[in-house]
Amino acid sequence: MGPAQEHLKSLSDSREKRAKSDVLDGSGLAFSHVLDLRKAFQSDPHVAQQRLSEYYAPYSLAFADEAERSSLPRLHQSLLNPSSTLQVFAFMLGDGIAGGAHFKILRVGELTLSALEYVWVSPESRGRNLGRAICDTLDSFLSARGSICTVAEFHDPSLSSPESIEADAQAGITSKGRLQFWKKMGYQALDVPYICPPVVGQSVWNMDSLLGVKVLDEYRFQALATGPGYISVVRAYWDTFNSTYGSCQDYRRLVEQTEGLDRVELIPLDSPRRRKQHLS
Ligand SMILES: CC(C)(COP(=O)(O)OP(=O)(O)OC[C@H]1O[C@@H](n2cnc3c(N)ncnc32)[C@H](O)[C@@H]1OP(=O)(O)O)[C@@H](O)C(=O)NCCC(=O)NCCS
Repeated sequence: MGPAQEHLKSLSDSREKRAKSDVLDGSGLAFSHVLDLRKAFQSDPHVAQQRLSEYYAPYSLAFADEAERSSLPRLHQSLLNPSSTLQVFAFMLGDGIAGGAHFKILRVGELTLSALEYVWVSPESRGRNLGRAICDTLDSFLSARGSICTVAEFHDPSLSSPESIEADAQAGITSKGRLQFWKKMGYQALDVPYICPPVVGQSVWNMDSLLGVKVLDEYRFQALATGPGYISVVRAYWDTFNSTYGSCQDYRRLVEQTEGLDRVELIPLDSPRRRKQHLS
């Protein structure tokens, strides 16, 4: 092992030690406090249900397109379900909810990683670094729990339909603007095709997205940066929303296109991918 690898390994080992601690670092400065809605349901489901309804109103304004957001019953059900890995944090300014984040912690073999589903800031609080503060808080929280990276789906502007671009614009941000935000948050794109099966109750595969990643532990991340590693990450993520895909032609094509790769490259989020899905 060379000096650079040794340095990465020692960083990685110290993160693993911190994973055993239960401290939520990184919050504090920008927000009055962070409300963990899953924990709220464990302590008082009645109060938590009210909190979730208060949360849902600004969340649904941030994601104006109904198809882009979770429904209130689905969120409620997931937060009550002990086998769901979904966590929702509400970021409070005084008594008001100024933003939120939805994420899941996943296991791939021996490795822990995370999937980020939503981050939002209410329109009147935007442009004041609160989005960055939410992302910093999550990075510290997830890193302290041993996550080696966070994956997230993004619209690929080169594959987006005019309808989806218009729906994004209604939320006060374009898909290109979103990519710029996530690029500043340290996310990169995986230079491979990415498609996503329908969640329960829907029927259409999502073919116009890319998969981005924020690496939190470079040393351990290398184990996933191959074609088979990528497919196991994708499966671990899809399994969290109970989709069935194993026998689908689209899934088999994704495996064929990527599984043989020795290395999955990371590229800037706004660069065109060399390998991307073909739309039929
Ligand atoms: C994306 C969103 C969370 C940004 O929140 P915010 O509090 O305004 O962001 P911040 O003030 O923390 O900005 C952080 C950085 O991102 C940049 N940024 C924020 N919004 C941007 C945009 N629309 N276009 C380009 N860059 C943007 C800022 O310039 C800033 O860069 P800097 O640190 O170099 O100055 C907010 O616009 C939002 O809730 N949008 C609707 C929901 C959404 O699209 N969420 C993201 C997808 S899940």
